[in-house]
Amino acid sequence: MTDASEIRKSFEENGQGHIFAGWDTLSADEQAALLDDCNRVNFDWIKTRVAEVREDHGTDFSKCDLKPAPVIVLPESEEEKKKEAEARATGEAALKAGKLAAFLVAGGQGTRLGFDGPKGCYEVGPLTGKTLFQWHAEQILALAKRHGATIPWYIMTSRTNHVDTVKYFEENNYLGFDKKDVMFFQQRMVPSVDFDGKLILADKCGLALNPDGHGGSLHALVESGAIADMKKRGIETISYFQVDNPLVTICDPVFAGYHLQAGAEMSSKILNKAYPEEKVGHICYCDGKLTVIEYSDMDEGNMYAKDENGKLKFWAGSIAIHMLSVDFVDKIGGEAKLPWHIAKKKIPFYNGTEVVTPEEANGIKFETFVFDSLPMTSASITMEVAREEEFAPVKNKSGIDSADSCRQLLSNRFAKWLKAAGVDVAHNAEGDSECVIEISPLFALDADELKSKLPAGTTAGDKLLLE
Ligand code: UTP
Repeated sequence: MTDASEIRKSFEENGQGHIFAGWDTLSADEQAALLDDCNRVNFDWIKTRVAEVREDHGTDFSKCDLKPAPVIVLPESEEEKKKEAEARATGEAALKAGKLAAFLVAGGQGTRLGFDGPKGCYEVGPLTGKTLFQWHAEQILALAKRHGATIPWYIMTSRTNHVDTVKYFEENNYLGFDKKDVMFFQQRMVPSVDFDGKLILADKCGLALNPDGHGGSLHALVESGAIADMKKRGIETISYFQVDNPLVTICDPVFAGYHLQAGAEMSSKILNKAYPEEKVGHICYCDGKLTVIEYSDMDEGNMYAKDENGKLKFWAGSIAIHMLSVDFVDKIGGEAKLPWHIAKKKIPFYNGTEVVTPEEANGIKFETFVFDSLPMTSASITMEVAREEEFAPVKNKSGIDSADSCRQLLSNRFAKWLKAAGVDVAHNAEGDSECVIEISPLFALDADELKSKLPAGTTAGDKLLLE
């Protein structure tokens, strides 16, 4: 580590001397902790980011040539169903051969949910209170069992939740996994700044840092040795998913199959947007390059545009479920030059006496997004999925995309499976299941499996638990 006085001097020279205002009041340990954070600061990086913010360097998409991306739609015709079956067979063969890995990005701070702990420890099971981590684990284990294969699980955390995440797995017997098949690694942290580009003290002896976004997963996969581990195991395809959506179909054989058939480097699942302003990214071609445009960056003209059939032109909403080829991540990961996005946030800060949580946004977090690597792909497929089968994110404390809405959507999906198996389930006027239903992935991974296993005489009253 560089000498304290030198670090302090460089902070002063770079207009960040305020970080050392309380230096003389810190204990030796506190000084060491602050120096450790300061030692990692790259002033050129901060200056470039702050300059970008001042120049408002984001892309003005209204000036770009935007075209809808081709989508493999939900199969209806016999031909489409045949293609789906072929894709499934390709994906299942890859699963059986042990060529797929599950990759969870769980390094986010989960500020909107405001849960004290890793988001994966949040309880979403409608009846059992099963955590998000447990849902994902059961799904991967059930799929591995079905195909007689091992599916290793790579989990990206960050400094904000790494210790607690690993502790949770250790205390819960690795959720049924063999320890050697679960690998944790941390993404990088970057400094947050106030609106004047000044670094922020998060507490007496630490800088306000934030994980570098889910885009950071690409270099973290390489840096951590996860890609090398995958290669050793013969893994060729990575099933990327986020921690907050228990409906995600991890290592989906159909999705993997289409991705592999196309020789794709990175592929995406999308759904038909519920309404033009829905807060999901738009997947489209932008000046000839496959791109995801965040809902907040889409201009109104394109957001509401209709095609010649009167259907929303940009109807394909990205739900952050991807397949990635191991070679692609290996190729771009180490130096993935993803653009930095900014988010204005309420960043708790130390005012010299105590930590204050501001009422209004007081600073900027910089993040990269994984979908910004799509323009770098030589081949990619985009596949539509049914919303009720695959999308129930837990983002907020209440209302839309909350734990309550997620639990209802879980019950709704299981009600649909039960109906397909011949069991009546009462629904209310909004179309929601009145029966609270929970079916463990270990009992059934999909509607067909449920039908084949459902005990005779099963009925759905107020509650139904199958595990
Ligand atoms: P979100 O964008 O919803 O962020 O992350 P978040 O941190 O969970 O929640 P808010 O925005 O602070 O309320 C989507 C997924 O990407 C992961 C999250 O853990 C989640 O699975 N993620 C996000 C990371 O792994 N690292 C990051 O730096 C950001």
